Amino acid sequence: MYQLIKKYLFKLDPEEAHEKTIEALHLAQKNPAVTTLMRLLYGFGDKRLATELWGLKFPNPVGLAAGYDKNAEVYLALAALGFGFIETGTITPIAQPGNNRPRLFRLVDDKAVINRMGFNNKGAYIASQSLIDYAFADIPIGVNIGKNKTTPNELAADDYEKCLDMLYRYGHYFVINVSSPNTPNLRDLQQTESLRELLRRVRGKATELEKRGVKAKPILLKIAPDMSDEQMHDVIRVAVEEKMSGIIATNTTLSRDGLSERVHADEVGGLSGKPLTERSTAWIRDIYQEVGGELPIIGVGGIFTGDDAYDKIRAGASLVQVYTGMIYEGPGIVKRINKRLLQLMERDGFSTISEAVGADHK
Ligand code: FNR
Repeated sequence: MYQLIKKYLFKLDPEEAHEKTIEALHLAQKNPAVTTLMRLLYGFGDKRLATELWGLKFPNPVGLAAGYDKNAEVYLALAALGFGFIETGTITPIAQPGNNRPRLFRLVDDKAVINRMGFNNKGAYIASQSLIDYAFADIPIGVNIGKNKTTPNELAADDYEKCLDMLYRYGHYFVINVSSPNTPNLRDLQQTESLRELLRRVRGKATELEKRGVKAKPILLKIAPDMSDEQMHDVIRVAVEEKMSGIIATNTTLSRDGLSERVHADEVGGLSGKPLTERSTAWIRDIYQEVGGELPIIGVGGIFTGDDAYDKIRAGASLVQVYTGMIYEGPGIVKRINKRLLQLMERDGFSTISEAVGADHK
């Protein structure tokens, strides 16, 4: 069925196609009969795929990555598509329009996308109104936060604190996004001393809110794939020292290696999809080697099949996320990945998905 829908969507400008799907999900969300049907079509349950992390129950390890439901508007409909968890955002303190259009490009031959959206979102207040219902979702809902474009890096921590102030009550886990390539200089916040200062302030704000009675939430750090080994190891060390709950690896890449399509290859922005598959898996492997067990990893980047997801899990990811894969394969991708994961687990003699996490290192 998605092949038909895809034919229509791929004739549209990519961002228009995205807006149409968000509209459709909005309508679906208001109609329990439709969400029930979606669950019947796309849901897939098997106890062996369930994981518990940070005290949260994930029915399966396949989540939706940040950037799809930027304003946390349709997470309840998305939850009916079989995902094990949904990450909303990136949300900034105040609304901002993002970069000028066009800012999203399909590289069909490469099964890739380039985006330079620039954190277009309605701001933390509107998101907080939408996230009020987060506890009605039967899967964990993550909230990914960032800084406004006009906020200089010296004041970036203020923005992350403001987001926590407005959003920490809502959502099951939080993500500090310092890895988008589309907000000027944002990635500089990954440099050791800036990162340490930022994470310290974030931790401080979370502790303050917890003292005021807000439940403590896991806080993760999402990182870019475009770093030297040394830089990556510094980032991970700071994340451990500043008591982050986990790492999301990775965001989109600035690299254009391995692209066959030239039409959009030179567009400015972050590249996602197939060309990122190996690169992000390699980072997961390295990070696991360094902090495996201590710091859970959510693996993301170019997952299209159960085999791709399994590679990341064996390399050390406790959970995985998809975005570009869903654009090309449709929502049925989640069920297909989960079914294939079960086959691969059976092949390797694992009775739960957790047993496969980091198996390549054992
Ligand atoms: C993204 N991604 C993203 N990540 C993030 O932390 N905040 C965001 O706002 C966005 N926005 C966004 C928009 C679009 C159009 C795309 C394609 C991607 C990055 C995303 O969450 C993920 O890390 C990468 O896309 C790699 O995964 P895939 O797409 O290869 O599965």
